[in-house]
Amino acid sequence: MAGVVTLRGVCGIVGYVGHRQALDVVLGGLHRMEYRGYDSAGVAMATGGQTLTVERRAGRLANLESAVEATGRDAFAGTAGMGHTRWATHGPPVDRNSHPHRDATGRVAVVHNGIIENFAALRAELEASGVELSSDTDTETTAHLIARAYADGETAGDLPASVRSVCRRLEGAFTLVVTHADQPDLVVAARRSSPLVVGVGEAEMFVASDVAAFIEHTRDAVELGQDQLVVIGRDGYEITDFAGDTAEGKPFTVDWDLSAAEKGGHEYFMLKEIEEQPEALANTLRGHFQDGLVVLDEQRISDQDLRDVDKVFVVACGSAYHSGLVAKYAIEHWCRLPVEVELASEFRYRDPVLDRDTLVVAVSQSGETADTLEAVRHAREQKARVLAVCNTNGAQIPRESDAVLYTHAGPEIGVASTKAFLAQVAANYLVGLALAQARGTKYPDEVAGEFAELEAMSSAVHKTLETLEQVRGLGRRLAESKAVLFLGRHVGYPVALEGALKLKELAYMHAEGFAAGELKHGPIALIEDDLPVVVVMPSPKGRAVLHSKLVSNISEIQARGARTIVIAEEGDDRVRPFADELVEIPAVPTLLQPLVSTVPLQVLAAEIARARGFDVDKPRNLAKSVTVE
Ligand code: M6R
Repeated sequence: MAGVVTLRGVCGIVGYVGHRQALDVVLGGLHRMEYRGYDSAGVAMATGGQTLTVERRAGRLANLESAVEATGRDAFAGTAGMGHTRWATHGPPVDRNSHPHRDATGRVAVVHNGIIENFAALRAELEASGVELSSDTDTETTAHLIARAYADGETAGDLPASVRSVCRRLEGAFTLVVTHADQPDLVVAARRSSPLVVGVGEAEMFVASDVAAFIEHTRDAVELGQDQLVVIGRDGYEITDFAGDTAEGKPFTVDWDLSAAEKGGHEYFMLKEIEEQPEALANTLRGHFQDGLVVLDEQRISDQDLRDVDKVFVVACGSAYHSGLVAKYAIEHWCRLPVEVELASEFRYRDPVLDRDTLVVAVSQSGETADTLEAVRHAREQKARVLAVCNTNGAQIPRESDAVLYTHAGPEIGVASTKAFLAQVAANYLVGLALAQARGTKYPDEVAGEFAELEAMSSAVHKTLETLEQVRGLGRRLAESKAVLFLGRHVGYPVALEGALKLKELAYMHAEGFAAGELKHGPIALIEDDLPVVVVMPSPKGRAVLHSKLVSNISEIQARGARTIVIAEEGDDRVRPFADELVEIPAVPTLLQPLVSTVPLQVLAAEIARARGFDVDKPRNLAKSVTVE
């Protein structure tokens, strides 16, 4: 699909105006996008009545369809409408938080993908003016604001102008699709930093977060630009910017088949998810730094409790455990607190020393991993405080925790953790900053500075992704290897472990990660001619001593015949002579390097697995979420 930016996002959104029953088109589109988010779903149909007909249900799309059938499809008859599949950000996945959200009259409905950062202020403003909100979401505020703008003032009676006026007030990222019972022949959609594409059919128009929603009806599409709004009617569409000036989208023709469209044109979800990492990072950080303070999503413990923390355990499994190992370096450095990182499956079977001043950080993408959940329960029985870092809103681990930080990486379909891992690393850093802030071990301007550096990592990851052709070629050449070793020091050590785990689980190849300093204590005996050894180099500008030591380690293994594949900061000329293959990554602060150095290792593992003919989304013997101990 030449020249088109891959569309990414979290929830699935579809809107329709045309000659068919909108309900059929919308439900069909939701099925095609269910992979994006699936904790609840809903539809709103403009039937020409006083109010819109809305149905929404927590759980899979099938729950919504049963509810629609129970009401009777006739109640939804109409040729304009919209729908949504949700991956929860604000509020647990229950019926009342499912989209669409309506204003008090039920005449305006909104579906949303993204995070509205200033929703708390907007909510307070609405409540102060007597509006009662019925959900915990950021989205509902927009429905009330649009209804108010449509009812009064200079935008009265003008739905696109009302939506524009509200968009101008929103901070954060959003795709909004809006219908109004008074305007049953049009649907309005707007976007900022979230995907939105128009499908152009014969006497029918679509808007969606993803071309997969409409490619069975049309392959002519238009991608909206940043801060643009589109009005679709049966016979056409009109794009403006948020000021109301005419704007142009980017037309393109979809040449993917349906399966490729779901995967953003990739062969596997995992490859798409690797590409989504810059956005996953940005989403994870979004909204977590407000008025100069790091904020958690949920906090059921006092600030004093956070201040009193005198020891941190991170408990997690697999890649999430590796994210904890990375965090240890930052939390100890920033907070001057001892941090232990534990495999959740081991934690409660020894006798960890815990009390009410211990903070246990439970990291889990799914929020349902049995080992981690049991570790959380054990910690709470011992009176420790538990903070969950989780990608799945409303999952069991956050429900049983005292505080929660959601990673907002969006659904991850590939069994191998990629964007969820990077998001976990970023979220763990936020936990570190929150603790440093509470304990006063960093000044407010230092916390702000660290946060700004974290924010800049989204574009560093983007830059890394642009230079990986070399790694793909390398992966194909390594496909016949018997084993690969991974070495790192400091934060590069957990990255080495993560690289080895990716290779094991995807390519079924023997792979081991080592702390480079441990080499001489045993593993160096494994080195033989042509054994590929991947080395994660620290920045030469970071701690020079680490860099020098690793250069020595590489020269030792190279002298013994290893084939050295070196992941190093661009411009690191000292390591060049020791690298049989040099993969350059952008220069970033020392503690943040795992966010870029992991990316080539993910791609390497995926490429080796593909070259060996394996399904990288569904590695053998593995499940996405391990719900048994
Ligand atoms: O859902 P969780 O983050 O708790 O899952 C933990 C591990 O099962 C998970 O990271 C697993 O190791 C991945 N397959 C690694 O790619």
